[in-house]
Amino acid sequence: MLVKMNSAIVFSLEPTVVEIEILHKNGFPGFEIVGLPDASVKEAKERVIEAIKHIGIDFSLRRIVCNLAPADIKKTGTYLDLPLAVGVLISSGFINPVINLSDTIIVGELGFNGVIRQLKGVLVIALECVKKGFKNIIFPYSNLDEVSVVKDVNLYPVKELSEVIDVIEGRAVPTVYEYNFRPEIESSLDFSEVKGQSFAKRGLEIAAAGFHNVLMIGSPGVGKSMLAKRLVSIMPPITFEESIETTKIYSIAKGKINYEGGLVNKRPFRAPHHTSSDVSITGGGTIPSPGEISLAHNGILFMDEFPEFKRSVFEVLREPLEERKVTVSRSQGCVTFPANFLFVAAMNPCYCGYLWHPVKSCSCTPTKVKQYYKKISGPILDRIDIHIKMSEIEYEDVNSKQETSKEIRKRVLKAFNTQMSRQKKYNSMLDNNEVNKFCQIPQKIVPLLRKLIDKWGISMRNYYKLLKISRTIADLNGDNDIMEQHILEAVQYRNNFDKYN
Ligand SMILES: Nc1ncnc2c1ncn2[C@@H]1O[C@H](COP(=O)(O)OP(=O)(O)OP(=O)(O)O)[C@@H](O)[C@H]1O
Ligand SMILES: [Mg+2]
Ligand SMILES: [Zn+2]
Repeated sequence: MLVKMNSAIVFSLEPTVVEIEILHKNGFPGFEIVGLPDASVKEAKERVIEAIKHIGIDFSLRRIVCNLAPADIKKTGTYLDLPLAVGVLISSGFINPVINLSDTIIVGELGFNGVIRQLKGVLVIALECVKKGFKNIIFPYSNLDEVSVVKDVNLYPVKELSEVIDVIEGRAVPTVYEYNFRPEIESSLDFSEVKGQSFAKRGLEIAAAGFHNVLMIGSPGVGKSMLAKRLVSIMPPITFEESIETTKIYSIAKGKINYEGGLVNKRPFRAPHHTSSDVSITGGGTIPSPGEISLAHNGILFMDEFPEFKRSVFEVLREPLEERKVTVSRSQGCVTFPANFLFVAAMNPCYCGYLWHPVKSCSCTPTKVKQYYKKISGPILDRIDIHIKMSEIEYEDVNSKQETSKEIRKRVLKAFNTQMSRQKKYNSMLDNNEVNKFCQIPQKIVPLLRKLIDKWGISMRNYYKLLKISRTIADLNGDNDIMEQHILEAVQYRNNFDKYN
């Protein structure tokens, strides 16, 4: 008997629904899979036969032929083990389907003992399942946490082959799993632990509010790394939509990273080491998996000791910083991963670190200092809105009381809501036309801007950046119009390093 099953595979972030035809016939024993299976799919037959044997049925002397469609797409991974096993059992008459197979997607990796193992990317498959109008999805129980947020489809999480038979023969009920999305906002690291540095803290508040990229620059031990690690704690909580996007990436990267499953409920913070390879930053591999910049999607990518990174890393960062996604090329074409991160870089002001130090003296020659800045100058620096120059803290700061992350986050959240209701995106993401529309300048501050452009030589690109930062400052202050004080504050976070370029 010929049986048709539906399953799916995920390649990078792209799901493909796969139709499997299974034919059980008389003849020389064997198990053939056609329709562009790769080695991992071909190996499924061993797992299928053993798993079926485990429930007391021996298929080793039968002849089974399976066809995978669409035939022109390479089938990779272990997603198809379970539908193959179910198809074999149905086509040979061992089980009688009650559930409508044409409405059902089945995915799962089988162990020899019939146990169904966790897969990568099941959230992506489940979302595709809904999009394509399927009514049921049978999938590994250990993927339930991430899949449970998917609405409008019956969920059948399964732990072993015998449970799947119950579902197919209509003895199981779909799992009702009321998923309550609760973003985590409390963090063990708090801004109040950082003494002084009010200029830097305000810069980070502006960055968090408008999703502006930041560069912190200062002598060793002033608190750059400390502040970067606390930036997530003042950002608006991750939204449900953002969480789904980020979870899809984590679901694909499972195994490579420390991710337990379930929705990602806080903004990611990724801090790759400066010895990281280009591929670990951008993603890639034979089966492309996301890199650090995509794992930081909707969160923070922190590059500490920024000039220490390889030159090639600066090159590969350009596209994602501009486009908020990354394209990874491979032999059979390109794949794209989202990479919308808030970029935070930290560095010393020179090789020895003491260029600006009030007491210690810098041992670098002016040429060496220039060389140091050359590494970060140009296209990358252009893509960083906020430049924060940090200095040593003062004695009064040591025992002073500091604002908590919660207090700062309140202002950030207000500014975030203002931006969303005005333009549905962060200020940093406005294009030039939108800047002209949303960052209008009252007539009375035109002279100030004229001075900035004519006397200080601010470029057009920097002018737009300045307006966007000013817009964020106005939003933080709850002001409708951009005013002189906002521009003057914004200027302080721009162009600190021009003289080194
Ligand atoms: N403003 C501060 N308030 C409280 N502690 C601080 C502050 N600045 C630095 N520290 C202390 O100094 C340590 C080093 O700070 P941090 O690692 O953030 O410095 P850094 O600027 O990143 O230095 P480096 O350039 O060496 O990486 C922190 O772990 C913290 O204990
Ligand atoms: Mg540091
Ligand atoms: Zn120096």
